[in-house]
Formats: sequence, structure tokens, C-alpha cells
Amino acid sequence: MAKILIPYGTSEGQTARIADYISDVLQAHGHQADTLDLKHADHDLPDGYDAVMVGASVHAGKHEGYVADFVRRNLPALQNLPAALFSVSLSAHGDPEDAEKYVAEFEDGTGWRPDKVAMFGGALLYTQYGFLKRILMKRIVSSQGSPDTDTGRDYIYTEWDGVRRFAEEFLVYMERNPGPVS
Ligand SMILES: Cc1cc2nc3c(=O)[nH]c(=O)nc-3n(C[C@H](O)[C@H](O)[C@H](O)COP(=O)(O)O)c2cc1C
Repeated sequence: MAKILIPYGTSEGQTARIADYISDVLQAHGHQADTLDLKHADHDLPDGYDAVMVGASVHAGKHEGYVADFVRRNLPALQNLPAALFSVSLSAHGDPEDAEKYVAEFEDGTGWRPDKVAMFGGALLYTQYGFLKRILMKRIVSSQGSPDTDTGRDYIYTEWDGVRRFAEEFLVYMERNPGPVS
């Protein structure tokens, strides 16, 4: 049994849901998987983990700054262990080139080259946004030519089968490329 940490950043909760889902998949394969909400805390990577899957979401073209800080602070540990990044955005659903650009900028800004990267579609949670955010998001979405402008409902773009496959592929990678024995 391996011990896997899933530290993540989230603003509206979708990345937290994806982190929980990944944790369930890893546990179903007999591993210990712990999620860690990085928000508002200067976390160091705890000792004793065999692998790490970092999650972050995109707002205004950037992943959460506190996730980038976490990665920079723990770079040697992340480079020593099997480690993955999953990036959550609307672009991952509709505009993969933009989604890849966000990841490339995150990698350049942190100096981290994750062993595995996934880009997952996020969610448009109109019913949970405040008034201004709802109007802003509707305007952005409609300017991109998307029909998903009914602010009386939410739109979830996360493909859960893809999330499960990524978690399982990472397990295979981890088993073939174990980090140093502590
Ligand atoms: C104010 C705001 C700005 C956003 N900016 C972007 C963006 O620049 N590019 C993008 O692809 N998605 C953008 N999104 C979509 C989010 O990445 C998506 O809603 C994701 O599910 C958020 O994940 P979280 O709930 O874990 O924070 C934005 C969403 C909001 C609410």
C-alpha cells in the first residue's frame, strides 16, 4: 500500500470535488490517499508520502498563487517523488490550447516539471456565484460563442471517467517509478 497526498487549490469547489474523487479511486485500489486544501496556509509537504498529485484551478488566466507557492517551497520533494499535476479550467473543456498554455506558465513560474499532467474541464456554477461573478462569467462564456448562458443552472464539464483513468495511469507510473525509500 502506498501513501499518496493530494494537495489542491480551489476557489469555487470543483477542484476539491476532483481531488476527493481521485482519493476515492486511489483508495479503491488499496492505497492511502489524503487530500489537503492548501488555501490560506503555508503548507510544507508532510513526510512519509510515496507520491503526490497536486491540483489547481484557473481564474483570470492563472492557477492559484498559493498552489504555485506550495510547489516552489516543496520543489526538491516533488522532484524526488512520483508527482502529477491536474489543472482544472473551462478551457480544458473548450479550448485545449489555452489550457496547455496555463499549465506551461505554471511550470515556468514554479520550475516544476510534473511527471504526469492532466487538464480537466471544470464547472460553471452560475447558481453559486454572486451577482457580479454570474454576469461576468455569462458575458465571457457568451463572447466565446458557447450556448451555456442559462444562469438559472450550473454546467459541469468534468469528465469523471477521464479523472479515474488519469488516477489509475498515475498509479501504474508510481509503481514503475518509486521514489527513494525513506
Ligand atoms: C471569476 C472566474 C474566472 C475564471 N477564469 C478562467 C480563465 O481565465 N480560464 C479558464 O479556462 N477558466 C476560467 N474560469 C473557470 C474555472 O477554472 C472553473 O470554473 C473551475 O471549475 C474552477 O475550479 P474551482 O471551483 O476548483 O476553483 C474562471 C471562473 C471564474 C469564476
